[in-house]
Amino acid sequence: MEKNIKDEIKTYYGGIAKKVSKNSKASCGCKTSCCGNTSNESVLYSKEFTEGLPVEAINASLGCANPLVLANLQQGETVLDLGSGGGIDVLISSKYVGEQGKVYGLDMTDEMLELANNNKIKSGAKNVEFIKGYIENIPLQDETVDVVTSNCVINLSESKEDALGEAYRVLKKGGRLAIADIVQLKAVPDDIKQSIQMWVGCISGALTVEEYINILKKVGFKDIEVNAVNIYTKEVIKEIIESKELEDVFAKMDEMAIDGVFAGAHVKAYK
Ligand SMILES: C[S@@+](CC[C@H](N)C(=O)[O-])C[C@H]1O[C@@H](n2cnc3c(N)ncnc32)[C@H](O)[C@@H]1O
Repeated sequence: MEKNIKDEIKTYYGGIAKKVSKNSKASCGCKTSCCGNTSNESVLYSKEFTEGLPVEAINASLGCANPLVLANLQQGETVLDLGSGGGIDVLISSKYVGEQGKVYGLDMTDEMLELANNNKIKSGAKNVEFIKGYIENIPLQDETVDVVTSNCVINLSESKEDALGEAYRVLKKGGRLAIADIVQLKAVPDDIKQSIQMWVGCISGALTVEEYINILKKVGFKDIEVNAVNIYTKEVIKEIIESKELEDVFAKMDEMAIDGVFAGAHVKAYK
């Protein structure tokens, strides 16, 4: 694997943010799973979640499932979204935690932070703050957050144990982790495993369900559940390849070789 994955990721997602800002639609994947939604109508989120959100926030969605169905957010809670992108999950969370609550979105890509801040202004949310930083080194104090969410980001990290360990550190005792992410269900062909483009596209960095559970346990989480919810069938993968905006990352992918190998999953755990 080549070096500088973080720089590649910043360049790729920075480019997507710029596209969305120019009113183009975001996508790094397909219509039903990581990392994308190529329609104004969200396929990952039911209307209840997206109601009242700026269309640019919905169009910037690059997730692989809806983590907020797991989060059970309550008024007054503090939430941290890891790799917040254009801010869709942050802005949805802000509705649920209300004025007494607070939602942080953390991202390392300047263009994404700019897009997210513009979406925050459009939404009128007052309880939201986007911060710049790395999920492997979260710039928040210990035990300050009730819920950590994330959508299609942990797979991009080269240090997943650091990222999940940091999530554990900032959670209050009894706090919860509610994540959507890509998981690997079967062995991955070597050429895909080695491809930096496939890593950037949320594919080759994916953990198996067992690996995910083991890391969560190792950093301290309990009551862990990891469930595949959107399976990447060859039909879904074909959609990705055919999507003109995605050719840069996915065009060379052999959809037969990875039919059913990856899935969007829900990950839930407690501190
Ligand atoms: C696939 S997008 C998902 C965005 C958003 N969660 C969503 O559902 O639309 C991945 C995002 O994570 C950010 N990201 C990736 N690796 C990161 C890291 N190590 N630290 C902070 N942000 C990261 C990228 O800049 C990008 O905005």
